[in-house]
Amino acid sequence: MPAEPLNSAARAAMEKLNAEAERAGLHIWLRTQANAPAQRPWFHDSALGAGGALAQGRVGANQMKAAAHHWRWQEISPYLERIGDIARNADVSPIEFADRQQFLLVNPGLGGRLQVASTIRCAVSIYNPGDVAPVHMHTPNATRTILSENGGYTTIDGERCVASRGDLILTPNGTWHDHGNDGATPVVWADILDFPLLEFLDCSWIDEDFPGEREGNARAQKPVHTNGHSERLYGRGGMLPGFVSHRRGIGHDTSPVFHYRGSDIRAALDALRAEAGDPYEGITLRFANPATGASVFPTLDYGAQLLRPGAATRWKRETANAFYIVLEGEGSTELAGRRFDWRTNDLFVIPNFLWRRHINRGGKDAVLYLCSDRPLFEKIGQYRAQGRSPENDVAELAV
Ligand SMILES: [Fe+2]
Repeated sequence: MPAEPLNSAARAAMEKLNAEAERAGLHIWLRTQANAPAQRPWFHDSALGAGGALAQGRVGANQMKAAAHHWRWQEISPYLERIGDIARNADVSPIEFADRQQFLLVNPGLGGRLQVASTIRCAVSIYNPGDVAPVHMHTPNATRTILSENGGYTTIDGERCVASRGDLILTPNGTWHDHGNDGATPVVWADILDFPLLEFLDCSWIDEDFPGEREGNARAQKPVHTNGHSERLYGRGGMLPGFVSHRRGIGHDTSPVFHYRGSDIRAALDALRAEAGDPYEGITLRFANPATGASVFPTLDYGAQLLRPGAATRWKRETANAFYIVLEGEGSTELAGRRFDWRTNDLFVIPNFLWRRHINRGGKDAVLYLCSDRPLFEKIGQYRAQGRSPENDVAELAV
């Protein structure tokens, strides 16, 4: 498409009309430039460089492109301690005026929006001993990945989940849930949500008027199941209980299992370590809805991957976004012209369309937890993936 209009007098005349229409408050825009998508054509673009650029002018005004970004735990975690200190000495608890004690990760390419990718939000939260986040439900799907050794508790749909480091706790859309720390030391976890997507769709709401029985300080729901409920029901692969509904809460297509234990995840990865694995990903696990095999949320897929010492995956790119938390080890993720050297508890995002590969440069295992919006892209018919062979040939992995 031409960079400049073929007839600039015509364009000037059109812009004059645009100014007139704006003065008249008509809320229309006469088109004076070509449409310019922010991405390059998928199949034509096999170079490692970043794909596409934002348009100029009126077309570009509403375009934004997430940047690849790496948040180093060493740099950001002191702010958690400072939040915790302020909360301990507060005249008014931050939970009272801000709902949570946390910082949100802000992607530098998204104009200050509170999101790490087009569909994904991530916050890192601290709960001091005794803190409670009152019971509520909402439309966004959410998880927390426990980073401290003691992970406090989350009660979801009447099931209390007592957590430890490496656990993944789900609060699917439409489930009543509350969190707290009844231990003796602060609890830290990463919250990941599809909040930006629900906001974009103007379908984000929250309800704090819990209709059931409460307990203790009356801010938390009273558990109605004994601990380990979902593990008892679904904890053996390939066997499903026949006497319960696999739908929990008022959401649709979400997992009835709320708690994946870090120790189980690590043991499962370890049991697979002698397998060849995926040349683009290493040894991988997906957390699945046991009743359907689908992703735990309709929008987001969660997984864990083991990179053995010396492992170097092949280059891969997808139309979906990938957000990572480093649970264990040290390594690098290479992008076109950039490299993230990550270590334990670091977080990083690889936005869609970017080529990337992972390398474990250390002498120990590296474990990454992944959150991807691949299920959403699949549902709207837009999921594609490509990989590069050692000879640098590009193969279609998903078309
Ligand atoms: Fe919530």
